[in-house]
Amino acid sequence: MKISVIGTGYVGLVTGTCLAETGNEVLCIDIDESKVKLMQQGKVPIYEPHLDVLFERNIKANRLRFSTNLEDGLNHGDIIFLALPTPDGGDGSADLSYVLETSKQIGKLIKSYKVIVDKSTVPVGTAERVKEVITAETNIEHDVVSNPEFLREGFAVDDFLKPERIVIGSSSERATNLMKKLYKPFVRSGNPIIVMDEKSAELTKYAANAFLATKITFMNEIANFCELVGADVDKVRAGVGSDSRIGKRFLFPGIGYGGSCFPKDVKALHKSGKDLGFNFNLLDAVIKVNELQRKILIPRIDNFFNQQLKDKTIAVWGLSFKPETDDIREAPALYMIDELLSKGVKLRVFDPEAMDNVKLKYGNKLYYATNMYDAVNNVDALIISTEWSIFRTPNFSKLKENMNQTVIFDGRNLYDIDDMINEGFYYSSIGRNIVQ
Ligand code: UDX
Repeated sequence: MKISVIGTGYVGLVTGTCLAETGNEVLCIDIDESKVKLMQQGKVPIYEPHLDVLFERNIKANRLRFSTNLEDGLNHGDIIFLALPTPDGGDGSADLSYVLETSKQIGKLIKSYKVIVDKSTVPVGTAERVKEVITAETNIEHDVVSNPEFLREGFAVDDFLKPERIVIGSSSERATNLMKKLYKPFVRSGNPIIVMDEKSAELTKYAANAFLATKITFMNEIANFCELVGADVDKVRAGVGSDSRIGKRFLFPGIGYGGSCFPKDVKALHKSGKDLGFNFNLLDAVIKVNELQRKILIPRIDNFFNQQLKDKTIAVWGLSFKPETDDIREAPALYMIDELLSKGVKLRVFDPEAMDNVKLKYGNKLYYATNMYDAVNNVDALIISTEWSIFRTPNFSKLKENMNQTVIFDGRNLYDIDDMINEGFYYSSIGRNIVQ
């Protein structure tokens, strides 16, 4: 099939590349000329495991091409994916200006039947609005379909190629059949393609993300309570997660959820309720708890140093919002960095992939370490904010040699309490007893 993807952010790029992998001819459109040039040279503009291999292979086979010309995109594809940004509009709601402006252009340029697919996470009713905007410009037949993505950064290629489910919101049989044909190779394992109306599909995406964010937040509160009563959250998690109704995944406590999806989507769902006079009381609490959780280590660090943080030197391991990505959007590390900088702390930071993005944001306010051990040179404490594998088994002797004070604040519970007792560190983690 011929496919066009408008927007080559992480969703658009993964979608386009993976659809080319099953033999489709894909044309990706982006307004950013320098990015398009880069991609035409075969370079992937983001870090996403396995994407580079597929990218190269499909460009070579001429199944994956890039352009800045929206008209070419519209002429090329039978199916046109919209993978455009829907940022926070400032009041928590999703800003639809990119989606609606592009829809208007589509209305002006469309020459034959097309299926327009909303891939971005958009509020309930957006497919209807997109349809209205296009129809206001043209009489040419078209269908608008909602097809939310459930890709995890770091696993996006795998999630796309082997999805647990495909959700298609469509009220047109013609469009539904085309979408089913497109996705057939990805669900050979028997995983379902679930067809529903557009609004239910749009809400499915928000409900899934809000549920997962709630699950994490619930565990974070249980962890905080564990500390108060002297229980160990790792043990509670194992006990709770063994109930198949609850499940083991997404129960890991930490310093709050981050990233480009959960914080934005939970707020957008909450706001769209509010706009209709409906109060999502549960999400209200989730948002509040997460805001507190991402800074939960700060008062502990402050107390440890008797409120004398000025001119202390602290290392931060992990800057991306989670491992296997260079994405720093809504990363808990950044909230802590801001807070610590405001208290006059000198910071030495290290991340395996996100250093360039952090440099762009903080310039010379931070020391950018060449490796994880360089980061801890002469520091008074180490904060762990992302659970990259490389941080899981450090050389503790080397840490002790390098650090001024052997103090670790671990926001991701990477180490066993017993090991830290044996190694002789002061060790404060989430939902477990402090080792001192
Ligand atoms: C998420 C959804 O999983 C995906 O389906 C959706 O399409 C986009 O949003 P992503 O943002 O890539 O994907 O990250 P995810 O792996 O889901 O983690 C989100 C946040 O939750 C991270 O900050 C992570 O550190 C945190 N998290 C996750 C926890 O704190 N504990 C957990 O047990 C799991």
